[in-house]
Amino acid sequence: MFQKVCIVGLGLIGASLAQAMLDRRLTDHIVACDFNQNSLDTALEIGLIKHGSTDLVSLLTDCDLVVISVPVKAVLPIFRTLGGAIKDGFTGLITDVCSTKVNVIDASLQIERELGVSFANFVPAHPIAGAENSGVLARKADLFVAHQLIICPNKTTNPNAVKKITELWQNVGASVTTMTAERHDSVLAHTSHLPHLLAFNLVNQFSHHNDNMDIFRFAGGGFRDFSRIAGSDPTMWHDIFLANKTAILHAIDDYEKHLNDFKQLIINENSEKIIAKLTDARHARRHFGHMLNQNKSTQTDNTMKQTYIIKPAHKFTGTHTVAGDKSISHRSIMFGSLAKGVTTVTGFLEGEDALSTLQAFRDMGVNIERNGDKVVIHGVGMNGLKAPTKPLDMGNSGTSMRLLAGILSAQGFDSVMIGDPSLSKRPMERVAKPLREMGAKVQTTGEKGTPPVSITGNQPLQGITYNMPMASAQVKSCLLIAGLWANGKTTVTEPEVTRDHTERMLTAFGYKVEKNGNEISVIGGGELTACDIAVPADISSAAFFMVAAAIAKDGDVTLSKVGINPTRTGVIDILKLMGADITLANETIVGGEPVADIIVKSSKLKGIEIPEHLVPLAIDEFPVLFVASACATGKTVLHGAEELRVKESDRIQVMADGLKVLGVDCTVLDDGIEIIGKGDVDNVFGGGEIECHHDHRIAMSFTVASLRASDTITIHGTETVNTSFPNFAGLVNGAGLNVDVVGEI
Ligand code: S3P
Repeated sequence: MFQKVCIVGLGLIGASLAQAMLDRRLTDHIVACDFNQNSLDTALEIGLIKHGSTDLVSLLTDCDLVVISVPVKAVLPIFRTLGGAIKDGFTGLITDVCSTKVNVIDASLQIERELGVSFANFVPAHPIAGAENSGVLARKADLFVAHQLIICPNKTTNPNAVKKITELWQNVGASVTTMTAERHDSVLAHTSHLPHLLAFNLVNQFSHHNDNMDIFRFAGGGFRDFSRIAGSDPTMWHDIFLANKTAILHAIDDYEKHLNDFKQLIINENSEKIIAKLTDARHARRHFGHMLNQNKSTQTDNTMKQTYIIKPAHKFTGTHTVAGDKSISHRSIMFGSLAKGVTTVTGFLEGEDALSTLQAFRDMGVNIERNGDKVVIHGVGMNGLKAPTKPLDMGNSGTSMRLLAGILSAQGFDSVMIGDPSLSKRPMERVAKPLREMGAKVQTTGEKGTPPVSITGNQPLQGITYNMPMASAQVKSCLLIAGLWANGKTTVTEPEVTRDHTERMLTAFGYKVEKNGNEISVIGGGELTACDIAVPADISSAAFFMVAAAIAKDGDVTLSKVGINPTRTGVIDILKLMGADITLANETIVGGEPVADIIVKSSKLKGIEIPEHLVPLAIDEFPVLFVASACATGKTVLHGAEELRVKESDRIQVMADGLKVLGVDCTVLDDGIEIIGKGDVDNVFGGGEIECHHDHRIAMSFTVASLRASDTITIHGTETVNTSFPNFAGLVNGAGLNVDVVGEI
């Protein structure tokens, strides 16, 4: 990445970054400037640097990166030297690792004015990865792995420089966030500077105490934990306290006020308030703990493991049975586990999403046997779940996390749910907020109301009436499920009809569900009785086959025993409106759910305005409907589908990006998309590379596009298809596609 790097200041951070860059081969030439000749000698001896000097100018020749890693009060003369070098033609990137940002940027601006130079190539940065050890020998090449790195660009910072510095830190394992320097300093004043100040101060206070030997001798874990950071470098902290004076003084004022309040509570022996304060703090600390300890691999693992390379095909035929219904599979495990007795499930989806739910219930002590798509659940009853010993990992599955939030809120134990990078970005406040209204203690501990979700048990729930702000079967189901334990009646009102598998399955397990127009209610305190569930084939998986057959030159498929619950058949209605040749046969009811064979043949499709009332009924099928729209004559317009933006990916943007890569003209709208169909031509799509952003339906949709493509389509990250349709590639190849699966299967 860099030809020659100059580290200015060989402290812990500078030396660790140097070691990390060498180990990861980001450069093989590091030089260093330090006023301490011993540090330079040590660094030379251990091979960390090729050359060291106390004179910065002499080191800058051919440097394409300078890292300022000195105490924050020492930056001004360094900028002065660098400013002089810029005047003389130095063009390398400059970054810093200082713990305060406003003063460092001010120093650069002062030199800009003084010397009339530009520091556009200076990227202010701060790795939140300090430790109380200092010096070259304390360096750690993995110091930054899974730590935050904050970049604070100002108005004149060159975006390419920011990009390169971002890549540098990502390459040494850090997770990069951008914010203003002011915000950085204010946040850090509370989260880092104040705690350090308190630790230094308390140790100082004790060490000057007459009994100091006894205090240290008998110091317990509390003092040990609290005082650890008082072992940090005094010059560095002196500089930080002065450099961030304003923000720290605010933080101290705040602290003094709270300390005084606490003192008053003790003076007044106000037990109730003291307990409330301590309980709140304990609760908050646990949530921070979950945030900090969350599975790092789920956070940082962005590596794609599998790719589809798909050559064009024209034929899509045969009789096929697609994977079992995902929504019904999830619910069968949940209700089977909570029921009294043994539930047998057939046709269970062996995809990772449903298996996440299954594993979560095993983690809560439920005995579940699985043999392929046959699952036997030994129900533990409404109050039989046990505390999991670790966070419940929901993988990619929003349904698992949201529905389980309802169950976990009512349990007598604490729990935490985590997810993969896609699920970790999805909104969870939509369930957390109404659950709190019911009395639950739910925290979304991610950055934006996102996972991990942390739930405190033993909270009595109260039935509520909730008008859902969005049409979401997951929110509806979560609340109805929590309502099973709540005192009184829980009513959910939906703005549009959404899938009703929860209501149907609760009824099948003997629980009374009232439906009154768009209001659905349950009364808490009842029980579930085990029953057998036959899971139909998933219409959402069948949709890929339906569109494939409709757009193929030679298309004719029969899809066996697909669930055609009227709350799920929007895809059939929309395709029919577009002119698709679809017929249903052998309609019947299996386990309370309507089922039929679906026959689809090659069709000349036309663009339409998609009726908004069909949106929730086809919510998961839009990615593949967009592929159909590209093959239709004329424009297709979708509105009222903002929910697509918070699925496994932002399905409007990600599909639009992919369609554009393949040469289709489309316009992204806030709540939908406009797609200009190419109509009755052989090659609607060109070839190209698609990223599926951890979203199974994106991967499968673009696979289907190969039936009207002129060239090879390559899709990266297709391992995600396993979440809902494990045998997808095998089945579509059997029908006529040419999918070559490369990488981990
Ligand atoms: C699901 C509901 C839908 C759907 C998801 C499964 C369910 O989500 O997109 O794949 O099983 O309840 P929303 O209810 O959030 O729209």
